[in-house]
Amino acid sequence: MILIVGAKGMLGQDLMALFGPGARGVDLEDIDITSLESVQKVLFTIRPRVVINAAAYTDVDGCETNQEPAMQVNGEGVAHLALATSEIGAKLVQVSTDYVFDGGKGSPYLEDEPTAPLSVYGESKLAGEMNARFNPDHVIVRTQWLYGINGKNFVETMLRLATEKRELAVVDDQIGSPTWTVDLALAIKALVEKDCRGIYHAANAGFCSWNEFARAIFAESGLDVTVNPMSTKDLGRPAPRPLYSTLDCGKLTRDTGFQPQPWREALKHYLKLRRL
Ligand SMILES: NC(=O)c1ccc[n+]([C@@H]2O[C@H](COP(=O)([O-])OP(=O)(O)OC[C@H]3O[C@@H](n4cnc5c(N)ncnc54)[C@H](OP(=O)(O)O)[C@@H]3O)[C@@H](O)[C@H]2O)c1
Repeated sequence: MILIVGAKGMLGQDLMALFGPGARGVDLEDIDITSLESVQKVLFTIRPRVVINAAAYTDVDGCETNQEPAMQVNGEGVAHLALATSEIGAKLVQVSTDYVFDGGKGSPYLEDEPTAPLSVYGESKLAGEMNARFNPDHVIVRTQWLYGINGKNFVETMLRLATEKRELAVVDDQIGSPTWTVDLALAIKALVEKDCRGIYHAANAGFCSWNEFARAIFAESGLDVTVNPMSTKDLGRPAPRPLYSTLDCGKLTRDTGFQPQPWREALKHYLKLRRL
């Protein structure tokens, strides 16, 4: 049995669909990962052989002013899952982020390169990575720029804005790899099936700026929206973001044979599915 924690989240729902009847899902109404007692109760009852943690405090800007809950969920919550999974002899798959890097390297990050988070969210997720190691049988899967059919995300925001405006400004100085949650779920499944351990990077192939991504969303949807450039500084969000945080996913492909599709192909596929 595979247990998906955070099963009602954007990634969690795609994981549930992909793993099918071999998986059970829990979310906040069944488990609170900030409580060791709650985690032990659920895990000792279900006794899964693998736990995939897709639960997190994901409001990146909100984390700046809510440091304590962010650390409790993203940091301590993972410690509780690592302890309880090691107690029942289960593997822990922890989903993490490119925001553990500062984005100053200028080329794709490898798994073992030094981390230096810029934001509270990044710090809290890095604490989660450290805590996952309480279970020696753990996999940390770093990903980035997620979108999926079951959550708030950049693609849906752009499509909503297109119903209101013919022109908008989108940042052009942050570079990353837009990643479809279905492709991330496939990468996680491949890592579980090959019984991998350690840190892996998993994102759709290739990279772009948010501005290019917005243009691609409108072009692939046949929408005539002008996308002007804007700097991260001018956008003025509370949490600092890494400017160039693409992830080298070569290790994932070498160890599992799974190769994530190019981001633009994934986007086309996503847009087609959401029209059905
Ligand atoms: N979204 C991105 O762009 C992105 C990028 C890189 C990495 N990631 C990582 O990818 C993973 C999945 O992200 P996502 O966007 O799919 O997340 P999401 O949609 O925000 O889902 C997270 C789920 O966790 C639940 N949750 C929150 N606190 C909990 C707690 N204490 N105990 C149990 N469940 C709790 C949430 O419930 P409520 O909704 O009721 O709070 C929600 O259902 C996360 O680890 C995230 O850090 C995301």
